[in-house]
Amino acid sequence: MFDVEKAIADFIRFPSVSTDSRSREGMAGAREHIAGIFRSMGLETRLIETPLHPLVLARREGPEEWPHVVIYGHYDVQPADPLELWTTPPFEPVVRDGRLYGRGAADNKGPMMVHIAAAARLLEKHPDAPIRLTFLIEGEEEIGSPSFAGVLERHAAELTGDFVLLSDTMSPSPERIAITTGLRGIVCLDVEVEGPKSDLHSGIFGGAVANPVAVLARLCASLHDDNGRVNVPGFYDDVVLPEDWERESLKALAFDEAAFAADLGVPALPRAGGWSPAEATRFQPTLEFNGIGGGYQGEGSKTIIPSRAMAKISCRLVAEQDPARIEAALRKALRDRCPDTVRLKLSPGHSGPPYRVVPPDRPDTPADQNPRLAAGFRAAEAGVADVFGSPPLYLREGGSVPIIGDIKRVLGMDSLMIGMFTPADNLHAPDESVDLRMLQRGSAVSERILAAVAGVA
Ligand code: BES
Ligand code: MN
Repeated sequence: MFDVEKAIADFIRFPSVSTDSRSREGMAGAREHIAGIFRSMGLETRLIETPLHPLVLARREGPEEWPHVVIYGHYDVQPADPLELWTTPPFEPVVRDGRLYGRGAADNKGPMMVHIAAAARLLEKHPDAPIRLTFLIEGEEEIGSPSFAGVLERHAAELTGDFVLLSDTMSPSPERIAITTGLRGIVCLDVEVEGPKSDLHSGIFGGAVANPVAVLARLCASLHDDNGRVNVPGFYDDVVLPEDWERESLKALAFDEAAFAADLGVPALPRAGGWSPAEATRFQPTLEFNGIGGGYQGEGSKTIIPSRAMAKISCRLVAEQDPARIEAALRKALRDRCPDTVRLKLSPGHSGPPYRVVPPDRPDTPADQNPRLAAGFRAAEAGVADVFGSPPLYLREGGSVPIIGDIKRVLGMDSLMIGMFTPADNLHAPDESVDLRMLQRGSAVSERILAAVAGVA
């Protein structure tokens, strides 16, 4: 048996920042670390090459009639900067107060190890357990998984199982665990407004030539109405509103709006469309400006008409919005609203579909739900109740794991997602950390899920 805490800590030591081309060595190290663990478990392990960062694939094969669980994780992490805001260096893991600190501790190196350790224990206790396992660990999640859909299509036969088991979503606290029933999709679009071929003297030319910053500002402002709703025709057409059981489950979250606002340091919350913050992030799509710029940003004043302006937009989507349709609607709104005094350049970034899964025994549970997935959900619910002392909440999440929707679309497989990080864990931020006790208990739950599906419980 490998030591889980050490396996995670050693994993964190590899700086596997997928977006940074200087991290090639760290990426390779992280990959080898995880591949080594799979080999030590006796699994047939190999890399699947992609244009950028290879995936690690490890398998325990068996007869066709055995259940087949696919375990997903990502070995890449977000950049660690700003480095000066870390209490201890991001790639030198340390434990303080039962929490493991380091980039990737929560997203996703710790949580993925929960399931790997669970599988290792199960196979040790039951070497003949009738279960097929496929571990699919990618290296491009934090950059939008550009290679993943292609890999799914090329390897469909070996990657198609009964369901996917993963932990890359949130729970309310280390004691109150969520089973995630939805993820938002994403669409990114870069907008550039081009005016005169160079910056111009605003006295000589001001009034005669359109100002790209002013045009861009009007375009951006037009994308929301006065109530904070997205003002793009057709944007909300395919939104599936929450079922009663989802609203009920969210009530159990006991969300404190005032504390939430105070914690974030904002004076008040917009409540766009009348949705509470806890509802808005889970049940509603958004259009955000991730960055905007143009013209002089330095000290004092500079009297120019800037030659260009740019904005970075991303939309978070909810089930059943289609990223391609939303991108087209957004492009059309911008084109229709842009005056002919400037040139508009639109460049798409990455995108991914939203995802929603309904647990068994709900009014809207699909009649043809995979019975092994249903068994997994039931074991997860019982396991969380036993191990953590209170039953799981069933919650949709605001974040995106785009491949989960792709797996559903390409392979027809649903996902069982156990939240193994919390709002306190500083994902994508300095001092990222994870609660080690939560991971250990989560791993016990994962073992029960696998045992139940294998029928060795
Ligand atoms: N683990 C997160 C997604 C997440 C965050 C789920 C919070 C639930 C709650 C994941 O690693 C992530 O950061 N995803 C990116 C995807 C993007 C780069 C396509 C995200 O959501 O921004
Ligand atoms: Mn992430």
